[in-house]
Amino acid sequence: MKRLVFARTGPPAEVLRLEDDVPTPVPQRGEVLVRMLAAPINPSDLMFIGGRYGLQPQVPAVPGFEGVGIVVSQGGGLLARLRLGQRVALLGARSGTWTEYTVAAARQVLPVPDDWPDEQAATFFVNPATALAMVRYVLRVPRGAWLLQTAAASEVGKMVIRLGRWYGFRTLNVIRRPEQREQLQRLGADVILLDSDGPLAEQVARHAPEGVRFGLDPVGGPLGSALLAALAPGAHALIYGSLADAPLQVDPRLLISTGLCVQGFWLARWLTHQNLFRLLRFFRRVRRLIGQGVLQSSIAAVYPLEQYLAALEHASRPGKGGKVLLRLGSR
Ligand SMILES: NC(=O)c1ccc[n+]([C@@H]2O[C@H](COP(=O)([O-])OP(=O)(O)OC[C@H]3O[C@@H](n4cnc5c(N)ncnc54)[C@H](OP(=O)(O)O)[C@@H]3O)[C@@H](O)[C@H]2O)c1
Repeated sequence: MKRLVFARTGPPAEVLRLEDDVPTPVPQRGEVLVRMLAAPINPSDLMFIGGRYGLQPQVPAVPGFEGVGIVVSQGGGLLARLRLGQRVALLGARSGTWTEYTVAAARQVLPVPDDWPDEQAATFFVNPATALAMVRYVLRVPRGAWLLQTAAASEVGKMVIRLGRWYGFRTLNVIRRPEQREQLQRLGADVILLDSDGPLAEQVARHAPEGVRFGLDPVGGPLGSALLAALAPGAHALIYGSLADAPLQVDPRLLISTGLCVQGFWLARWLTHQNLFRLLRFFRRVRRLIGQGVLQSSIAAVYPLEQYLAALEHASRPGKGGKVLLRLGSR
């Protein structure tokens, strides 16, 4: 089989190699063998390959934390046997997902409806689950409240806007490209702010004079710091990415005097704190909201595995407007 692999961390286009004669992995008890159909290239994959992620790779390693495929064999156990023949979304895999075949724990694969395109099924996990968990389970943004977010044109950002429409909270959305304004308006963004249009706190105060109690930032650096300074006393902000690769600055007096709560969010860690019953209910909800279009991903392009260099370049391109996927097989 073919797979992408890296033997040392570094810039993805430099360290990734396409191997084309690798033995297919063997599932152990409780695991399934999945023939992969498609997998996205997420910012977390690029950081993982670069050695800049919360989890360090055990090299040589195959990237990819999610994807879609068909279960073609199993290593024993009731759940693994049940999954045989099903098209499933992978919530992590022992041997990565940028590969033609992978093995995963049977409890980490979820059957997906037949009428979902592979592209939506492949992006089932990382972004939809993150957007829903942050907004409904951690921040618990109430109906009518304002939420301020940076990188609003990201896939997570667009899902947060649709969740706002769906659950009745209002969104203030910071972007860095004016051409993205119209698309976010169509999704239902209440307010769109350009980070180049002057101090963020002033822009926010003009649109939400009553104050903003909820914030989401995946950028860090000066923009993330400006988001923290623009929030109301006692606000709750989640930091869930480091796109600017620069530290946040926050005036300690702001934390002390206003009670601002700044909390990191990582889906992988959040999931480990949920019991099985809550997890099942959570993923049923994610599946329903994808089906209803609320947590759908926009797809920018799909590349065959052999064209991974072009795919990596596209995935890192500013303003790409949707997910870039690798096509790994066909149904
Ligand atoms: N913590 C978690 O568990 C978790 C889970 C899922 C995702 N995430 C994080 O969520 C973020 C978004 O993921 P995604 O898949 O939705 O991303 P995406 O669709 O690839 O979009 C990335 C967005 O970030 C913007 N951006 C990149 N660098 C920026 C910078 N320096 N300043 C301002 N904006 C910048 C881009 O703006 P342009 O459109 O202008 O290029 C683009 O809109 C990533 O940081 C990812 O790691 C975290």
